[in-house]
Amino acid sequence: FAMKENFSKQQGVANIAHRGASAHAPENTMAAFEKAVDMKADYIEIDVQMTEDEELIAIHDTTLNRTTDGRGFVGDFTLEEIRVLDAGSWFGEEFAGEQIPTFEEVIDAYRGKIGILIELKSPELYPGIEGKVADVLIERNMQHPQNEKIIIQSFNHESMQVSKELLPNVPHGVLAGMTWAGVTNGQLAEFATYADYFNPNMNIVTDELVARVHATGMDIYPYTVRVQAEADRLFNLDVDGIITDYPEYVYKHPANN
Ligand code: G3P
Ligand code: CA
Repeated sequence: FAMKENFSKQQGVANIAHRGASAHAPENTMAAFEKAVDMKADYIEIDVQMTEDEELIAIHDTTLNRTTDGRGFVGDFTLEEIRVLDAGSWFGEEFAGEQIPTFEEVIDAYRGKIGILIELKSPELYPGIEGKVADVLIERNMQHPQNEKIIIQSFNHESMQVSKELLPNVPHGVLAGMTWAGVTNGQLAEFATYADYFNPNMNIVTDELVARVHATGMDIYPYTVRVQAEADRLFNLDVDGIITDYPEYVYKHPANN
């Protein structure tokens, strides 16, 4: 963990742009990822799912309805069908024509420029998605320890165990929603057997939880900050990173200037 500790000391809290800088541009589009780079975030967070013809794409919801002009389940459409959709207009007319990016496009455009926090979204709907993601990284020689700022995370912890077997040197994270408010030290120790990060809903984060996560050797990146006061609260709790729609809230804090 030596490099990670140096990183924390030099950089302060990692600034993770949730679905890209999603307060400023449509989530999970190149526009949002570009904005995150412009704002000097440390990572972009992306949600990865799979099309009917088994291509990996970046989209959050399991349906197309909210963020595109399409209707229906992501997994019922081919990449060709997905590519004609408008993933920008719902957010603002100036983003009309933004496409849903493929996972490979995001990796190729941003590796080495900004860290990439890869969330496998609802992987139980996409059997084999862990292997597809691993193939993309291995094809690019990105499976080695610390040579890229790449982290893989999911709410599906079985999926993370599968992924860790395929990519033992890539850091993994377990996401934890509100139902994990009472997470025990035994459960944290079990997560730490395959995960490097415990990334909880910010509403369950206390100084005591941060200390217990750190005691296992894991880092903690809470999600999803949308107000300055919450960023400030988390800073004071000694978290390692903050997942936010507003990268400017993390940099505004005196500790990160
Ligand atoms: O990175 C964590 C956060 O993205 C998890 O929640 O629903 O925004 O994917 P969600
Ligand atoms: Ca996510």
